[in-house]
This record gives sequence, C-alpha cells and structure tokens, in this order.
Amino acid sequence: MADFESLIRAWNGESVIVHYDQPSDAMIFIAIHSSRLGPATGGTRMHRYNNHTDALRDVLKLAEGMTRKFAIADFPRGGGKAVISTSAPLFGKERTGLLERYGRLIGQLNGLFYTGPDIGTSPEDMDVIAERGKPFVHSCTPDAGGAGSSGPATALGVFTGMQVMCEHLFGDRLLKNRTVLVQGAGSVGAQLIRHLKDAGAGVMFSDVDDQTAQWIRRKYDIPFVAPGDVFDTPCDILSPCAMGGILNHETVGRLKCKAVVGGANNQLESPGNAENLMQRGIVYAPDYVVNFGGAIAITGIESLGWSHEQAMREVAERVETSLTEILGIAKDKRISTEYAAEELATRRLTRYNKQTAGTTA
Ligand code: PHE
Repeated sequence: MADFESLIRAWNGESVIVHYDQPSDAMIFIAIHSSRLGPATGGTRMHRYNNHTDALRDVLKLAEGMTRKFAIADFPRGGGKAVISTSAPLFGKERTGLLERYGRLIGQLNGLFYTGPDIGTSPEDMDVIAERGKPFVHSCTPDAGGAGSSGPATALGVFTGMQVMCEHLFGDRLLKNRTVLVQGAGSVGAQLIRHLKDAGAGVMFSDVDDQTAQWIRRKYDIPFVAPGDVFDTPCDILSPCAMGGILNHETVGRLKCKAVVGGANNQLESPGNAENLMQRGIVYAPDYVVNFGGAIAITGIESLGWSHEQAMREVAERVETSLTEILGIAKDKRISTEYAAEELATRRLTRYNKQTAGTTA
C-alpha cells in the first residue's frame, strides 16, 4: 500500500504543503505542480475521503490536471490544487472556523498558490477564505467583489466540446435530437442541462443526492437515471460531471455511448483507459480540454481584466480550437485522444521554455 512518502517521491510536481487543522481534525494538502506558465492556481476541494492517503493521491493528480488545463487553454497560470480532507461532516461554526484558518494559510503562502472553488466548496466559502487569504482567492461572490460561481463558464466549455464532438461524429454540430446523459447535477451539471435543453437535445441525468435529483426533475422535467445504471444506459454522449476515476476497465466495457464529454476532473482511472475507450469505438474528449472554462473565465476576469462577455467568448473559442486540434492529432497519429492532449500540453509547456530560455537566472 502506498504511503505519503512514496506518493510524493513518485510525483513530478514542485511542492506539497501539508497542514493539520487540529480543531476540526481535517488534513489539508496543497499541491503545487508547476509554476512554469504562471502562479500555481486551482480549486479547493473539500471531501470526506476513506483515508488521508486517498486525499493526497487525489490532490497530486488534480494539481497536475490544472497544469495541463492552463497549458492547453494557453492561459498564463500554473497548476496547483488543494484538498481539505475532513474526518467527519462539518457544519456551521466548525466549518467556518476551518475555512478561516485555511484562509490564513493561503495568506501566509503569499502567492505561491491561488485558489477558487471545487467540489465541496462554493463562492460563499471563498468569501470566508478571502478574509485572510486575499488577494489569492478567486471566485468570491459578486457581493464580496468577486466573479461568482465558475460553474456556468465550465458548463459552456463542456457544451462547446459537445458541439465539436457532434461535428466530428456526425458531421453536424447541432445537439438537437442527440441524447446526452449528464452524471452529476452540481454547479456544472445543472448549467449544462440548461444549455442542452435550450439546444433541443434529449437530456437524461443522474445524481447521488436525492434532493438535487428531485430539484432537477421539477425544474427541467427530464428522465432520471439511477446512479448504478449510468454506465449501461444507451445515449449519444455520456457527460461525467461528478467525481473522478469513474472510467476504468470494467465501466468502459459497459458503456453504450458514442462519446464521452464531461466536466469532471480526472475521469480516467488511468491514462490507459483511454485506449479501452478507443478500442470500443467511443471518442473521449479529455476532461481537462473541455473543462477549463471555469478556471480561465474567473481568473481572466479577476486578474486579466476580461469582461464577463469576453470571458465566455474566450472559453468557447479556446475549447473549440483545442479539442479540434486534439481530435486531429489523435486521428493522424492513431493514438488515443488522451495521449494527443498530453502531447499538445507538453508542446505548449516546452514552447514557453524555449521562448524564455536565457532570460531567467
Ligand atoms: N474547480 C476549478 C477547476 O477544477 C478550479 C478553479 C475555479 C480555479 C475558479 C480558479 C478559479 O478547474
């Protein structure tokens, strides 16, 4: 079994910060994967893992995903991620206290890591973290002077990815009459469902949370798929928008879709699962190529002075060009789209190296 040390030794990032929050018994990991393209930036995930080792494994992988995300999007930020691994559900003052202390840590890091929301945290939580973590906290609420939720921009990027995918598969980018199954109706999934409904697609959804499921059914009147049936339900596009690691040898064997295009991070259990998908004739849109919308829109608005409209335009355009290029590379070289994306990300990262060669000490 892997322990902290072996996980960190095997990792190819820059630094890992570990902070134990004694009052809440939460373990906080901040992984700085790469600051080559700019300051390391990534969301803060709050989750109850089976154990802290799983949390560390997750943060290391997620941080690397952020490096690739910004490189593919051609955006001047590096990759990082934070995971707050809680040992019990936290509410009210206990939770706020933890977020305040976490904010102090972000402030102390003084720009080594910029953060925003992720699974388990919200813009309201960013307001609390920003009390002491300013100016290194993105996506605060508009009332607190922030750009608000990153969900809508991520959803727009995923939706654009689906249009590109339809063009690739059917020679026509319209989603009308295509069937899409959205797994997870959180801040990204719910917005995506709205886009798909507006476009006239046949939408189905699934969620592990009963309340969310009821709310979506009332709001959109679309069929609910039980969480255990997601991988066996026929559809044109499966859209994972919840936790990662869901595409593995077993689940890929069950899929009855033509493509996978979703907002979740780290959808593949391992990169080799992209080959399993390819062998089954299912086209996979690499997660970080279609889900970078939230991170670049919010960071663009808050640090590059983009307007909201410009941010949305940048997201749609950049997803469109990146995914088109990756599908092209995969086809030409007969490699999986995952390897094609990795290649493009590496190219972008090393191009920067060459441009700046000799200019740094
Ligand atoms: N959750 C976002 C992602 O995974 C992270 C993010 C949101 C980063 C907003 C910056 C600002 O891409």
